Amino acid sequence: MRFELISNLENFKGVELIFIDEDGFDKSTDKDELVKVGFKAKEESGVYLSHLNKLYVGVKFDDSEDLRIAAAKAYEIIKIAPCEELAVEILPEFIEAVVEGFELSSYSLTKYKSKNEPVSLKTIYIVSSDEKALKKIEKAKTIACVTNYAKDIVNSIPNDYTPAKMAEDAKGLTKISNITCKVYDKEFMEKEGMGALLAVSKASIHEPYLIHLNYKPKNPIKKVVYIGKGLTYDSGGLSLKPSDYMVTMKADKSGAVAAMAIIKGAAKLNLAVEIDVILGATENMIGGDAYKPDDVLKSMSGTTIEVRNTDAEGRLVLADCLTFAQKIEADYYIDLATLTGACVVGVGEYTTGVMGHNDELKNSIESAAKKSGELTNSLHFNRHLKKLLKSLIADISNISSSRYGGAITAGLFLDKFIEDKNKQKWIHLDIAGPAFVEKTWGYNGAGASGAGVRMNLYWLQELENKEA
Ligand code: BES
Ligand code: ZN
Ligand code: ZN
Repeated sequence: MRFELISNLENFKGVELIFIDEDGFDKSTDKDELVKVGFKAKEESGVYLSHLNKLYVGVKFDDSEDLRIAAAKAYEIIKIAPCEELAVEILPEFIEAVVEGFELSSYSLTKYKSKNEPVSLKTIYIVSSDEKALKKIEKAKTIACVTNYAKDIVNSIPNDYTPAKMAEDAKGLTKISNITCKVYDKEFMEKEGMGALLAVSKASIHEPYLIHLNYKPKNPIKKVVYIGKGLTYDSGGLSLKPSDYMVTMKADKSGAVAAMAIIKGAAKLNLAVEIDVILGATENMIGGDAYKPDDVLKSMSGTTIEVRNTDAEGRLVLADCLTFAQKIEADYYIDLATLTGACVVGVGEYTTGVMGHNDELKNSIESAAKKSGELTNSLHFNRHLKKLLKSLIADISNISSSRYGGAITAGLFLDKFIEDKNKQKWIHLDIAGPAFVEKTWGYNGAGASGAGVRMNLYWLQELENKEA
């Protein structure tokens, strides 16, 4: 989508978009027209008055999220009309939200259809005299575009999007200045003793890769490491998923992909924060040499793991990635993973589960998430749940002995691989719900949503502002 800044509507010939609340509705010069067509200035309602070249969309002006959703509503209506240019006057504090709402809602997965409906809309004119408007538009566009970049990868099908493809895309990011990338193969992981990640990858015909990206700005004020679960497919392994649960498991790479989008966004925004990204890219498949329930794995950290369910594979991959990641000295370690169905059951499909030991850090991420429009719930660790991971024969079991609290016990499993000196620096984000939803919600189309991308880019910007 193209966005242009103009200071007034004088010479504009296209369709004018008017965001209107109940107050504005009462005062509107078009009130009679609007009443005639039954328009009420309620949220998620809109009407296109083609004879007046006007598009009215109802909104509450409470927060940015209202405007993102209103922009999505406007896009939904206008995309089927033969309208090439849309203009909208916006208060300075809502410019970013409106641009994000348009850009995010304009994403669609087209590559697997033989025919796609063309959309006429080419340019959106933002009418504002805010001196920072241009900067705000650019920033919002970048954030929304990298979120859409994540969606497109997550939506890609597992036969095309293999661990090798992820490695290739990661290398592609080095076209952006200040980003470098190293890709490690199976032999390297064997040498490093990454027995947990390697076990998961065993039955796949696609080789696993460990991917390390780095973004280094001139004078970084902080350093953050992101660790991503990159299961390009999760069949469950020998603890095979039922068919209905296997569908959508191409999205099990969402954590890794979000981390790629975050580093891409940070570099494009020129953030003064150094970022490392560690991705474990592999498939979880079945076969004669598949890893098995009853196996005992030796992780890179030396901790031994009893496998009781091969479908709890994400935590195995992350265990070795977390150990590898902590070789890098940093201020924060944040992992992103579609880790548990239990998290989706617990907090609903739109919400990310936030776990960690540092309440202040958790709060700062949750507050940034809220501003970005992403939903979070904090899930608290406790000593009783921790005991449920005990194994009779190894240092830890890969599943809990209870059927309850599965999102938290998965988080506690990861905690076992966090070094004491890093406990306060670590956050685990379970994005199993929002990463992929098979229906439209707000400005998110059906399929991948890029969960975790916007909340972290907002958080990184706040980190930068706090230090400056
Ligand atoms: N990738 C799944 C988690 C998942 C479920 C993501 C639904 C998105 C939507 C993960 O690898 C998994 O299968 N976890 C198991 C863990 C269980 C065996 C302890 C689960 O949640 O059922
Ligand atoms: Zn699984
Ligand atoms: Zn998985």
